[in-house]
Amino acid sequence: MPPLLLLFLLHLFSTSLMADPDDQRCLSGLFHSLSDPTGALQNWSSPSSLSSPCNGFTSFLPGVTCNNGRVYKLSLSGHSLSGQLSPSLSNCTNLQSLDLSSNELTGPIPVSLSSLLNLAVLNLSANRLSSEIPPSLSLCAYLNVIDLHSNELTGQIPDQIGLLVRLSTFDVSNNKLSGPIPYLLANKTNGLGPRFNASSFMGNKELYGYPLPPMKNKGLSVLAIVFIGLGSGLVSLILSFTAVCIWLRFTNQESSNPGEEGKISHLMPDY
Ligand SMILES: *[C@@H]1O[C@H](CO)[C@@H](O)[C@H](O)[C@H]1NC(C)=O
Ligand SMILES: *[C@@H]1O[C@H](CO)[C@@H](O)[C@H](O)[C@H]1NC(C)=O
Ligand SMILES: *[C@@H]1O[C@H](CO)[C@@H](O)[C@H](O)[C@H]1NC(C)=O
Ligand SMILES: *[C@@H]1O[C@H](CO)[C@@H](O)[C@H](O)[C@H]1NC(C)=O
Ligand SMILES: *[C@@H]1O[C@H](CO)[C@@H](O)[C@H](O)[C@H]1NC(C)=O
Repeated sequence: MPPLLLLFLLHLFSTSLMADPDDQRCLSGLFHSLSDPTGALQNWSSPSSLSSPCNGFTSFLPGVTCNNGRVYKLSLSGHSLSGQLSPSLSNCTNLQSLDLSSNELTGPIPVSLSSLLNLAVLNLSANRLSSEIPPSLSLCAYLNVIDLHSNELTGQIPDQIGLLVRLSTFDVSNNKLSGPIPYLLANKTNGLGPRFNASSFMGNKELYGYPLPPMKNKGLSVLAIVFIGLGSGLVSLILSFTAVCIWLRFTNQESSNPGEEGKISHLMPDY
């Protein structure tokens, strides 16, 4: 047998029988950090299944897809999973797609996700994730999809996210984000039209800038009312002041006219 073929077979053999310790850490960390009321992760609970999550090229763990003996897709959407995302997710170093959308996850998006250098799809939409979007997500250079809509994320959208050149879907609508929309997410680099349209950003009370329509919130209208009030006050002040001036001048002219004064004194009865 040629040595190369032997090496190849050996590789096949080892990937099908030996579980990757990083994937084990990843899945076991995730499993232990989540609470699973509907039993979607029931089969995850046996130690034997977690110790070899990829049995050859496939996985018998629900929600886990394998490729070459490594976990490459985690898809656990809509299972009422609660709890916080475990930082150990970063141990799934071959992960390309992470979909934990439509659950009840809380807490922050782990900063450690930035070490998932093969990640192309990140869908954590429709949970209750809070805290800020980690700027280090921009290190995941292959990211195509970032869907974080309908969470409770706060702070600004990191400018660095705009540097992800492969990003074709970006949705952070319906969160609690604030501040300006990063230029590189709002505008195409050629300046022709928006890179992502307003629907990617709407539903964040304090987020502003193109492509969102100009803000029409309470703060602004209160300011407008104050300005209108001050303005009309000033105008009426000036008007009444000039009126008084004109009247004073008129009466002054009248009183400084000696003929009129004489007439008046003439009309006065003499005693
Ligand atoms: C759990 O694994 C068993 C086989 O080990 C399988 O028959 C069953 O359908 C799995 N359950 C789920 C929810 O996937
Ligand atoms: C695996 O996860 C743990 C946290 O649970 C972390 O300390 C460790 O650095 C991770 N390893 C890798 C390779 O990401
Ligand atoms: C993310 O998941 C939600 C809910 O499962 C789905 O509706 C949405 O289309 C997904 N986002 C993308 C960009 O595929
Ligand atoms: C982005 O593009 C819009 C419309 O093409 C334009 O109005 C806006 O000024 C641009 N933003 C910047 C910072 O150039
Ligand atoms: C915004 O872009 C998405 C695709 O990215 C498209 O489906 C949607 O119709 C666009 N909405 C508007 C108002 O242009």
